[in-house]
Amino acid sequence: MNITNVMYIVAAILFIVGLKQLGSPATARNGNRMSSMAMLIAVLATVVGNDIMSWEWIIGGAIVGAAIGAFSARKVAMTEMPQLVAIFNGFGGAASAVIAAGELVRLIDNGADIAEDVSITIMASVIVGGVTLTGSFIAYGKLQGVVPTRPLLLPIRNVINVALLIGMIASTVWLVVDPSMTAFFIAGGIALALGILVVIPIGGADMPVVIALLNSYSGIAGAATGFVLGNNMLIIAGSLVGASGLILTRIMTKAMNRSLANVMLGGFGVEDGAAGSGEEETRPVTSIQPDDAATMLAYAQSVIFVPGYGLAVAQAQHQVRELADLLKEKGISVRYAIHPVAGRMPGHMNVLLAEANVPYDELKDLDEINGEFQRTDVAVVIGANDVTNPSARTDTSSPIYGMPILNVDQAQSVIMMKRGMSSGFAGVQNEMFFLDKTQMLFGDAKDSVEKITSEVKDL
Ligand code: TAP
Repeated sequence: MNITNVMYIVAAILFIVGLKQLGSPATARNGNRMSSMAMLIAVLATVVGNDIMSWEWIIGGAIVGAAIGAFSARKVAMTEMPQLVAIFNGFGGAASAVIAAGELVRLIDNGADIAEDVSITIMASVIVGGVTLTGSFIAYGKLQGVVPTRPLLLPIRNVINVALLIGMIASTVWLVVDPSMTAFFIAGGIALALGILVVIPIGGADMPVVIALLNSYSGIAGAATGFVLGNNMLIIAGSLVGASGLILTRIMTKAMNRSLANVMLGGFGVEDGAAGSGEEETRPVTSIQPDDAATMLAYAQSVIFVPGYGLAVAQAQHQVRELADLLKEKGISVRYAIHPVAGRMPGHMNVLLAEANVPYDELKDLDEINGEFQRTDVAVVIGANDVTNPSARTDTSSPIYGMPILNVDQAQSVIMMKRGMSSGFAGVQNEMFFLDKTQMLFGDAKDSVEKITSEVKDL
């Protein structure tokens, strides 16, 4: 066994342990470090162990790539992280496709007899990589607001997609039978068009699920390229990305109680804060001011904070922790209820609260916390909406019917912080607003929490 393979095994172990560590907020930072280290080892083993190209190009490329990666990771706001992941996925898919294409060019130029399995794998890499590239950029555009977020439904899109699919299979067969760059360009072009056409009909708010799926595709493209080059490291790393991306897609669709087909066919979650049924809401709600909320909290024995997407928008995580610390000093039990799809990306609430150094043991998953609400004096909902909507349990016509929700309505009293009466991601009215036990505290969450904190200090 040569040194390159030993380094590949070390990198593979680090990748797997790193991925495992990403499963808990307490170990996630270390997991990230381990996986980065694994990538460094894999890249070093590959460039040192193989006579690939001149060192000037390798070092130049590494410096440019590292600078862009470090700059964008530091500069991008947490709420824009899904966009950054989308772009990285797109480039990952493109890199795999370009490497596989380079191998095809080399084989054709050398007049080599290309085995069928090699040409099929090259095409798999080019096609999956091409779809990932353009699909990811459309996903980025929708999240960034550069491409319209509403689903763009072409009249005969299914016919077009089927025609493109047939064209892709036909050009792959052509390349296998008679290796030529023309067949390659046709298949590559179709893949690029298909990436656009598959993602454009999906609503902007569903993009995080699409990005998880495209992340998986970028891994599959990488693994296919690994087979083309006979590179074990690429096969392992690509398979890990492919599998974990699929698992993540499954977790997200399951937590939203939707099928992947339902997401991919589009039309749901059309725009953030969609207006719901369109009917004017006339039922009265009870609203309170920050000083009333402060009194309720200061005299409670137990409080559960329920963060949602609005917490991320308001960037109120530090203020929430400050309030929690104050309540704890008064001997009040404080916990945080974390719904798996609260916010707009997996682990969104965990990341935000970790940034504010909220102790991990105070973060409770849905299953852990749901039985506790009935023993809780005050549930404070901070910019969460759909994940607290009781109609998900009973209203079969609701788009969130069947989605497991946090049992906020079972707490003794509820404070709901949001700016107005608008709906959440799913565009449906929240029955919580109209319960007798619910007090609406209107305003930006950061502002409201700051005001409550200063009132609690005086009590
Ligand atoms: P949402 O249901 O989207 O509700 C967020 C609420 O925050 C809105 O009703 C909004 O009301 C309020 N808000 C916005 N900015 C605010 C601010 N500055 N201060 C105070 N409130 C503010 O959020 P959720 O309960 O977290 O549920 C997440 C939804 O996203 C679910 O339907 C889920 O299926 C979906 N989704 C999640 C993911 C992942 S992976 N997390 C991915 C795709 C989709 P106002 O405008 O009235 O303030």
